[in-house]
Amino acid sequence: MSNRGFFHFSALPMSTRMVYTMTLLVLGTGYLFAMLQVFFSHAGLDGNDKNISAQDIRIAYHGSESDTRLVAALKGPMAGMLPESERAVIFKWVDSGAKQEVFESDVKPIVQERCLACHDGSNPHIPLLTSFDEVSKVVARDTGATIPTLVRVSHIHLFGITFIFFIVSSIFTHAYMRPLWLKCVIIVLPFLTILTDIFSWYLTKWIPGFAWFIIASGALMGISFTAQWVISMWQMWFYTLPPDIEECGGVLPVLGRKSN
Ligand code: HEC
Repeated sequence: MSNRGFFHFSALPMSTRMVYTMTLLVLGTGYLFAMLQVFFSHAGLDGNDKNISAQDIRIAYHGSESDTRLVAALKGPMAGMLPESERAVIFKWVDSGAKQEVFESDVKPIVQERCLACHDGSNPHIPLLTSFDEVSKVVARDTGATIPTLVRVSHIHLFGITFIFFIVSSIFTHAYMRPLWLKCVIIVLPFLTILTDIFSWYLTKWIPGFAWFIIASGALMGISFTAQWVISMWQMWFYTLPPDIEECGGVLPVLGRKSN
């Protein structure tokens, strides 16, 4: 097996290893903050802010599939405010897309008669229901992240994460690892998972089940980052190549410091 061009960490100058070490330390800290950021921006979307769940991820990209505030209120505390037949009219209006024309013709009269006694602004703690715009606010369905938001975050991630893994895996190329295919898999994985991660955002917006692809992509990327970080740091400072391997790159072959 040819090892031309492969230099193990132990063959690198102290100053180069210092550059690599400090870069890994700062990028490792950055990764921890990225994890915190993921937690703070997603945990709690499903009503439980103690942890982050697949449901949180689904809601972030796809939106909530549970009822709108209006329907939830009419099934719950507001159920007794109007007869069943009128309630059905409102449900039908929401299901058919909450259009303004239908609101003006079918829903507004009901709301005026049944709801405005309280929802006319006299009580500032309950939603105003005096106009189409006001009622729309309690009907708006949570549709998750918008496409422009996803596009913005996509390009930032594609550029930013590629930079980070270019640096980390360039450092990691100096590690000795067998089988070689495993080393290659660890290197390739983050570049593949950034693509699957980002495409899964759009798929999740459409089909919520793809949240699992986002989670799997993130997990694989994290495993790869951790493996590259730990193996690089360890081999840079605490590892001695086995003697039978040393000739294959532990020492600069071009300088002939080890010959056989
Ligand atoms: C007798 C007074 C009264 C009437 C009439 C009334 N509401 Fe309410 N409504 C309240 C109060 C008080 C609250 C806040 C407390 C609660 O949610 O139980 C509320 C809350 C709501 C909420 C917000 C729930 C949330 O998630 O915060 C909606 C939506 C709502 N009402 C819709 C309606 C509709 C539609 C009607 C007419 C069919 C109606 N209400 C009639 C008193 C009223």
